[in-house]
Amino acid sequence: MPTDTGTSIRSNGEHYGCQSDTSGVTSGQELFESPPSVITDYSRFISQTSSFRNFSFPRVLMKCLETLPKDGVFFAGGLPNASLFPISNVTIELTDGTKIDFGNALTSTALQYGTTNGYPPLLQKLNEYLRRYHGIDEEKMRTREMFVVPGAQDGLSKAAECILNEGDYVILEKFMYPGTTGALAAMNPKHLTVESDGDGMIPESLLQVLSPWDGENARPSDTAPKDRFPSFLSMDVDNRVIRLDSFSKIVSAGMRLGCIIGPQALMERVLMHEQVTIMHTPGLTQIMLHKILESWGWEKFEEHVRNVTEFYKSRRDIMLKLCNEHLSDLAHWHEPRGGMFMWLKLKGIKDTLKFCMGPCMETGIVTLPGSACSVAPQEPSSFIRLSYSLVPVETMEKGIKRLREAILKEQARTARH
Ligand SMILES: Cc1ncc(COP(=O)(O)O)c(C=O)c1O
Repeated sequence: MPTDTGTSIRSNGEHYGCQSDTSGVTSGQELFESPPSVITDYSRFISQTSSFRNFSFPRVLMKCLETLPKDGVFFAGGLPNASLFPISNVTIELTDGTKIDFGNALTSTALQYGTTNGYPPLLQKLNEYLRRYHGIDEEKMRTREMFVVPGAQDGLSKAAECILNEGDYVILEKFMYPGTTGALAAMNPKHLTVESDGDGMIPESLLQVLSPWDGENARPSDTAPKDRFPSFLSMDVDNRVIRLDSFSKIVSAGMRLGCIIGPQALMERVLMHEQVTIMHTPGLTQIMLHKILESWGWEKFEEHVRNVTEFYKSRRDIMLKLCNEHLSDLAHWHEPRGGMFMWLKLKGIKDTLKFCMGPCMETGIVTLPGSACSVAPQEPSSFIRLSYSLVPVETMEKGIKRLREAILKEQARTARH
């Protein structure tokens, strides 16, 4: 699931405490009156923690291995001798029956330390992906940097550390991917909350949040776009977007693969962080991904993504039907247009944390309270989140009927008090 993070929503945060009306805000047009100028100095976007980081010299020298002439001698790295590793070959079999044999030399590369940026042939494929699907051509790439990360979550938390100082303001949807709020928590940011609906952020609410903004401080916002196109990255004319892609939902979650792209000056700080934490994304899974993309080509890649989408869509339809049959008098919902979750707003239940941990558990169903995905988790929420990804179709009906029982039980209990 892609996440685009705009890096330059400006604020004079001091206005925030007293902001109460939207007078003067007429339409989104005024936000875009003057043409954007390309950002050249990113120093004001870099957090203090990130500014202390340096390139790791041994990691930088690792890159020389990629271009070392055949008769070159590499004395610099602390690389183990791969002939001592107990694995000599890796073969993978795809669900369509294709078998891919790495061979000894590639297996040895896969098991050895690699550069922090990523396995070069995979980087090349990812560059193709960005050009093909987000319009990032060579010209646009000149001021940007892209590298492989072990999952979007890793890139997200490091990008956040790169641009946020403690106590900075961030603009967030009221309910969102808990990994984002979790990653931001270390910087203890102040939240500016934008209301959202089935289509994502509500523009009027975003305008209301942005209207008093006039200062110089850079603040990120994070959003997972509900539709694929156009991405923020493809619309990024002044080089302010950091985009994260994840292969978790389309190739494998356990392979931990994603990529990050953004302004060069910021990406180099994130790369410095990677150099001294994970050092690089595992070579084995990077090479697996490269081999899969190579074997598929882009047409088959698209076909696979379509199949994945169709699968979740059909699961969604089953869950929607069950909710309509069993819950229409007890909850409200929007039809999900992507992802793998139904969000239900329960009638007559103010705090779903208690409800999920009490009546739901007692009835044998595990559901996520809305507060777990809220930017204000301490506030009670009437929402619950149900995933339709894994529950077998046969079990889904049983689960929804039990949910009905649990809601009725809780409503009766609340009515008594
Ligand atoms: C919006 C968003 N960002 C990031 C992630 C994490 O992805 P990854 O598995 O690549 O770390 C998820 C996972 O669900 C997500 O929904």
